[in-house]
Amino acid sequence: ALKRASRSTSSCHLGRRSYSSESQPERKVAILGAAGGIGQPLSLLMKLNPLVSSLSLYDIAGTPGVAADVSHVNTRSQVKGFVGEEQLGEALEGSDVVIIPAGVPRKPGMTRDDLFNINAGIVKSLCVAISKYCPSALVNMISNPVNSTVPIAAEVFKKAGIYDEKRLFGVTTLDVVRAKTFYAGKANVPVENVNVPVVGGHAGITILPLFSQATPKANLPNDEIKALTKRTQDGGTEVVEAKAGKGSATLSMAYAGALFADACLKGLNGVPDVVECSFVQSTVTELPFFASKVRLGKNGVEEVLGLGALSDFEKEGLESLKPELLASIQKGIKFANQ
Ligand code: NAI
Repeated sequence: ALKRASRSTSSCHLGRRSYSSESQPERKVAILGAAGGIGQPLSLLMKLNPLVSSLSLYDIAGTPGVAADVSHVNTRSQVKGFVGEEQLGEALEGSDVVIIPAGVPRKPGMTRDDLFNINAGIVKSLCVAISKYCPSALVNMISNPVNSTVPIAAEVFKKAGIYDEKRLFGVTTLDVVRAKTFYAGKANVPVENVNVPVVGGHAGITILPLFSQATPKANLPNDEIKALTKRTQDGGTEVVEAKAGKGSATLSMAYAGALFADACLKGLNGVPDVVECSFVQSTVTELPFFASKVRLGKNGVEEVLGLGALSDFEKEGLESLKPELLASIQKGIKFANQ
């Protein structure tokens, strides 16, 4: 009984809030679009992250309420809400990580590219502010079409003279989350042990899950791999249709966004071997941006990892995604420079 008591005291001490905050550096995270469908649950999940000391919630409307609500959760970070462009500077100042889920989501029948006209402008103006107020932050771009909004951000940062390709990330984690879930279901393995890299981009056929590299191995037949690939590529549309006009993935996206931001924070804090897939500036293929496994470190991207061995089906998928992905990248670059 004594043993049990002493153990529970020490685990209680380890679990104390003061313990985690004393041992972790100060980190400020800003969420732009924090009052939205993704922004709200993402704000909550980031409030639960003990690596965050300051949580800055920005939107064009609604953030005072979200911030007041989330701030009552008894975890480490101090929460502040900022509303309207005149408060954007203060929201961003000193940020280590900026997460951007600002913009309109899809409705049934829309592709991610249909969002371009509205979201491109939103992302551009937010990135101009990032260049000014927190030029060395790691930027986690969630706003779609990611295949174009990441190149837009890069161009804005280049113009401002602050571009560092190590600090700009397109968040493709939801594709990985989906691939893992769908694979675990088909392969009948525990989902928490599953790993599946997803490469390429973040829209339709540009999403290329590499099930040939999935672990634990399951030797699924080709037709099942094809069906899993298609389901991963259409995962977003599955949600858009089920929500029937009320938007796209928000809860699973908030989870995925929180996972990716946590990986960025761990990298900044010097945790070794933090690897996640992300859409980044890349030389893995001839395309200037490409999603693949990335090792995260104190400066952001530490290493962009290669593709590894591909099956014939994946090789085909890779070749057929390139024209669409390149066109989306070029569209973003053109928009930013006009
Ligand atoms: P939503 O419409 O619910 O929320 C968007 C929020 O952005 C709103 O609160 C709005 O006020 C805010 N906003 C608009 N203009 C802004 C500006 N200039 N500055 C700051 N905030 C601004 O949309 P939802 O569902 O949260 O989706 C947001 C974005 O995330 C969409 O572009 C969507 O396509 C994308 N998305 C990306 C995914 C990914 O895997 N990367 C997955 C799911 C959605």
